[in-house]
Amino acid sequence: MNQPLICMTLTGKTLEDDLKLVKKYEKQIDLVELRVDHLCEEEQLYVKRFPSMINLPCILTIRRDIDGGLFTGGEFSRTNLFGRALAFADPDKSKNFAFVDFEEDYHIPSMQDAAMAFGVRIIRSCHNMTGPVTNLRERCEAMRKTGYELPKIAFMPKTLSDVVNLFKEGEAMDYEHILCAMGPEGFPSRVLSAYSNSYLSFVSPEEMLQNTNVIGHIDPVTLNELYHFRDITTKTQLFGIAGWPLPRTASPVIYNAGFHKQSMDSVYIPVRSPSISEALNFCEKLGFKGLSVTVPFKESVLYYLNEHSPEVVQIGACNSLVRRNNKWTGYNTDAVGFRRALEDFLGSMSLKRKKVAVIGAGGAAKAIVYALKQMGAKVCIFNRTLEHAQVIAEKYGYSYCQLDPFCVEKLDEYSTLIIQTTSLGTNAEGNSTEENDPIYFYNFRGNELLFDIVYTPAITPVMKRASLAGCRTCNGYRMLEYQAYEQFKLFTGKEYIK
Ligand code: ATR
Repeated sequence: MNQPLICMTLTGKTLEDDLKLVKKYEKQIDLVELRVDHLCEEEQLYVKRFPSMINLPCILTIRRDIDGGLFTGGEFSRTNLFGRALAFADPDKSKNFAFVDFEEDYHIPSMQDAAMAFGVRIIRSCHNMTGPVTNLRERCEAMRKTGYELPKIAFMPKTLSDVVNLFKEGEAMDYEHILCAMGPEGFPSRVLSAYSNSYLSFVSPEEMLQNTNVIGHIDPVTLNELYHFRDITTKTQLFGIAGWPLPRTASPVIYNAGFHKQSMDSVYIPVRSPSISEALNFCEKLGFKGLSVTVPFKESVLYYLNEHSPEVVQIGACNSLVRRNNKWTGYNTDAVGFRRALEDFLGSMSLKRKKVAVIGAGGAAKAIVYALKQMGAKVCIFNRTLEHAQVIAEKYGYSYCQLDPFCVEKLDEYSTLIIQTTSLGTNAEGNSTEENDPIYFYNFRGNELLFDIVYTPAITPVMKRASLAGCRTCNGYRMLEYQAYEQFKLFTGKEYIK
């Protein structure tokens, strides 16, 4: 099977808009799909000339609303549009559409004959926008009546098991086909097309991502430059990060750059699932060698480990899994990552007997408190749910306190260094509010140090507030990097080179 191609879906309102996008991304893609249903009505009449305006093969698609498109004009007018686009083909094939997408229930013999007569290949497609398609091979074989047709199935997985099935069935198909799972859980199918033998993977230009958000397209630059899509084969070693909802993560940038730097045939991708057992099952079936674990699984993952490092037991949370001999071994690199980042922030200042406030009592807080104990600090843990703080605090002989406006005095007492470990400021824009700043009620004096483990945005609302009062602040990016370097060593046996 050939290396999968990159097909950019064009959802501009005019042919001119689409043309500009093709020119901009030409080097990043192998073919384009002209989505006629996104063009304004006037422009839909002139799509025939589009292939001659570009230097790449082009798929002609007029997607109906029931299949996730915008076309609502009825089958008669759709057939007319297909006719206009395909008729009077140019003797020079490169000036015609290379493919036309007909859904599996669209059977107009004259249209098929016209396509075939002019050498336009038919993509026979099937879409389920709300649920999985499970009998993929059977469906593809039914759609592929002649060797001339290229079957395509796109579906919305219910769970990662549906995506596992896509890879399993795709691998067993020895003819050209296109398979994609949509939505957040379907993401691996877009990057690992080599594993499903898919003929191509669809992307959208960054400018148009809002049109394909629901189905989970990424842009071609990210697919090439972050994931090195064109280098991925079934020999490529797989790594990833399990989390939910995991809208954004900087980890793929760190790891994939590390692999590339050392010419390692490896890729690192997000594995999104609301269930850690589903995520682990997915990684086992695809042969992942290592997995980072993030919110909200750092504690629940312990249940699935076959082996673990002493720190994992001591901390009670795990953020790194290595797969050896069909077993998962758990490690915790958050503690060491945090410690290195904090030491960078503190410079020559020692934490011995200093009073430190930890805000939050989740998996990340557990690793942080463990590191603070090693550093000799006196800690008070502040948390919304008091019992969670209590469990951690009692383990180390530390104090704990309810996180609410009544804790101001206690917080003030422990305010030499305040460490924010909840995810509250993540992706927050604007000023501090009750929703994005867990200590919104605390007025900074200006001599506190604030370490926020959130790194997007680079300046969280609480950091902004603290800086304005004159405090020194630090976000969680360094911590993320340092813990990743440790994890990289566990995953690959090699030092990370920047
Ligand atoms: P992680 O494992 O990365 O630390 P987590 O386990 O989800 O993530 O931990 C989230 C922490 O943020 C917890 O301390 C949680 O408080 P509870 O123990 O009361 O659940 C805290 N947190 C989450 N949302 C919060 C909110 N709206 N206000 C205050 N604290 C919040």
